[in-house]
Amino acid sequence: MSDLFVELTAPNGRKYPQPRGLFINNEFVKSKAGETITSINPSDESEIASVYAAGPEDVDMAVAAARKAFKDPSWRDMDTTARGELMYKFAQLIEEHKETLATIETWDNGKPYSVALNEDLGEVIGTIKYYAGYANKIHGQVIDTSPAKLAYTIREPLGVCGQIIPWNYPLAMAAWKLGPALCTGNTVVLKAAEQTPLSILYLGTLVKEAGFPPGVINFINGEGRKAGAALAQHLDVDKIAFTGSTGTGKEIMKMAAVNMKNITLETGGKSPLVVFDDADLDQAVKWAHIGIMYNQGQVCTATSRILVQEGIYDKFIEAFKDYVAKTSVVGDPFKDETFQGPQVTKTQFERVLSYIESGKSEGATLLAGGEAYKNVGGKGFFIAPTIFTDVKDNMKIYREEVFGPFVVIGSFKTEEEAIERANDTTYGLGAAVFTENIAKGHRMARLIEAGMVWINSSNDSDIRIPFGGVKQSGIGRELGEAGLEAYTNKKARLSTSRCRQLTNKSRLST
Ligand code: NAI
Ligand code: MG
Repeated sequence: MSDLFVELTAPNGRKYPQPRGLFINNEFVKSKAGETITSINPSDESEIASVYAAGPEDVDMAVAAARKAFKDPSWRDMDTTARGELMYKFAQLIEEHKETLATIETWDNGKPYSVALNEDLGEVIGTIKYYAGYANKIHGQVIDTSPAKLAYTIREPLGVCGQIIPWNYPLAMAAWKLGPALCTGNTVVLKAAEQTPLSILYLGTLVKEAGFPPGVINFINGEGRKAGAALAQHLDVDKIAFTGSTGTGKEIMKMAAVNMKNITLETGGKSPLVVFDDADLDQAVKWAHIGIMYNQGQVCTATSRILVQEGIYDKFIEAFKDYVAKTSVVGDPFKDETFQGPQVTKTQFERVLSYIESGKSEGATLLAGGEAYKNVGGKGFFIAPTIFTDVKDNMKIYREEVFGPFVVIGSFKTEEEAIERANDTTYGLGAAVFTENIAKGHRMARLIEAGMVWINSSNDSDIRIPFGGVKQSGIGRELGEAGLEAYTNKKARLSTSRCRQLTNKSRLST
């Protein structure tokens, strides 16, 4: 086997060939400068494999391949039903390979295998199929103006789309971006996060097997500041779609200005979860746990700020603490009973620990956790699920995104105060409200500044429903029919009858 593949055996015994190259034009190739990045298993800190990392010259090559494919009749003029079938075949291949893909995801990212297999891969397959169904339903309009003028619109693809994804859901974030881009006829250069490079490369082998024309889908790995920046400022890229931190999102906006790229950004959050006195306590506790502890707390919409009405505060705290202790089983992500694996990298692990120190020094009450979790073989980036109570609005842990199994809890008196405090943030991604009073639930949902508000649930996202933020949580929407808007232009075409001299009464009329 060439240097471009390596045979690996995962901790669960699964053997597979891991591609190591950049996936350009349906082939794996070395990076021009030969630079590599090494992927680490966050459960035991061992090296898994090294893969080629792109520099600007490799990004040029990938963009050129995508541009050529965009203009090629084999993709540009493909019958839209055939395009949908091609995407469907891709989804079927992912389904056939889902155990391998889930294994790679767990090994490289640290998320529990059952979650990777059933939730992440289920979402990946579902998203590609969902958008495959749209391929032959991308319609324009006819606009009736006057007998003299016929106007119609068509929805045309944007062109070459640069897509930059994060490490918390590598395959799912790729699917959210590939689905709408492909069904509308764009071509793609997608950059995986340097922390989790492996699963995206394996997906490349399935792109080729499905039969996409060369250059339609290109996958590159590489550092954000090198490969990501080269893509964001490339003059021949028409669109940039990004998911990640708010700070990087702002840099990408600036870089994208170089040729006025179309952009969609999905960034950070500090999403509130509001529990009223009249809530179903049991349900509020269960959803609040999922809302912050799922995926090791590494979820952009995590409801990381819990606000509880005074009358139920003590009861909630007690029930929540018990539920977290019972349910958040920390351990080897390949074990069935594990709910929480390690944080993705040492950097993220240390970042969460630094917020723990900050919470302690600012005087919040540490109710649970508050330290590294050392009982999984002594190594790895595990954190004990952490709960701070009596958290005040000016504390750093109340204001900043932590991105770990780390939650802050405060109390409120009135509905007005709940709204004010829920909105007292620069972010606006998700929000959750718990009340048995449905009118109050919808009143809150109307006034909370967020892209998504869940009433009596949290993080109950769905591929058919638009996902995105307001304020500094992003621009544009992914998923659902709304996701198509981010990948098409409405082109107006007009035909007008003969031009005659303009009179006072008529303009361009026969
Ligand atoms: P990041 O936003 O820097 O990285 C996300 C992606 O952007 C990666 O593919 C990275 O290579 C790329 N990137 C980084 N700098 C770039 C640049 N200058 N130009 C172009 N691309 C660039 O996030 P990072 O550093 O991995 O995580 C830091 C924090 O960001 C986390 O603790 C969390 O708070 C937040 N985050 C939020 C995510 C979300 O889902 N909204 C996902 C990942 C991180
Ligand atoms: Mg890794």
